Amino acid sequence: MRTYRVAVIPGDGTGPEMVREGLKTLEATAKLYGFSLDFNEFDYGGERFLEKGEVLPEDAIEQLKAYQAIFLGAIGHPRVRPGILEKGILLRLRFELDQYINLRPVKLYPGIETPLKDKAPEDIDFVVVRENTEGLYAGSGGILRKGTPHEVAVQESINTRMGVERCLRFAFDYCRARGKKKKLTLCGKTNVLTYAFDLWERAFHEIGEEYPDIEKDYGHVDAVVMWMVKDPEYFDVIVTDNMFGDIITDLGAIIQGGMGIAAGGNINPSGTSMFEPIGGSAPKYTGQNVINPLASICAGSMMLDHLGEKEAARAMEQAVMAVCSGKIKSLSAGRMGYSTSEVGDQVAARLQQAVV
Ligand code: IPM
Ligand code: MN
Repeated sequence: MRTYRVAVIPGDGTGPEMVREGLKTLEATAKLYGFSLDFNEFDYGGERFLEKGEVLPEDAIEQLKAYQAIFLGAIGHPRVRPGILEKGILLRLRFELDQYINLRPVKLYPGIETPLKDKAPEDIDFVVVRENTEGLYAGSGGILRKGTPHEVAVQESINTRMGVERCLRFAFDYCRARGKKKKLTLCGKTNVLTYAFDLWERAFHEIGEEYPDIEKDYGHVDAVVMWMVKDPEYFDVIVTDNMFGDIITDLGAIIQGGMGIAAGGNINPSGTSMFEPIGGSAPKYTGQNVINPLASICAGSMMLDHLGEKEAARAMEQAVMAVCSGKIKSLSAGRMGYSTSEVGDQVAARLQQAVV
């Protein structure tokens, strides 16, 4: 039987509850589609840090490299200063596993409410390809004369030709394989960031010549966010740097119905990729069985797609869509009309129906 080895990091807050439902539905899918998933759990997160004073064990990266994928819940603990876990776990894994793409689909499912007036599922269906290892996230810079009136803080955006090029190629290939509008929008700020986005824009057009079937489009980030609200149907695939990608995908998540449903993949096409809900650990809902697990289930579907189980991935997405157009009242924690585990059960039941 085809077997995939998957590292599971439930993480903090509501992460474990979301992951529990993700795994439940992944297991149900695997059974129906004749493959098996070999899950191995890791306790990385805030509790471990508070207990052991260590964010990640020394051999964590080497261990994780042995897996075909990582399934992550959420990272972030109210008793740990912001930045420690984010940088020490999430960003470290993205960087050291060279997951250079952050793939974030923005898709409104039927039955889900969007805050955008007069917009329907056919209007909201695009994908953001966010560069995931460089830009302002690279950690270049520093503080001089800290705490004095002459303090200087510098935080530089790092854009390498190699990093930009591999991200653009991924985006062009993805846009082609997706086969929808075949339009790739570069989201930048060429009018102000005249060094960084000069490189991006030149590379975009040079590489673009290899993709005559893809329409090349450009938008400044401040205009892109405006169009995402006004004319989301304009977009097919958007490619952008790390910081802009971070910001515009939160807007994307909200127009697709909220953090309850938004999922993403941190992709290294030739290494270990990691799949996660875009939302945080929502500590105030911890342990109440009220958090929406659909984002985790969608992350699971993306993981199967990445592993090559396309049909199973589609089935999982369709099961989520069926649940969304069913009796679920809202995507927000505590307002779904069902508990976390009931929503997971519903997805699993829909899977069964789809196959029979
Ligand atoms: C995200 C998050 C992270 C990011 C944080 C938690 C470091 O906001 O995945 O979008 O900024 O990339
Ligand atoms: Mn973010």
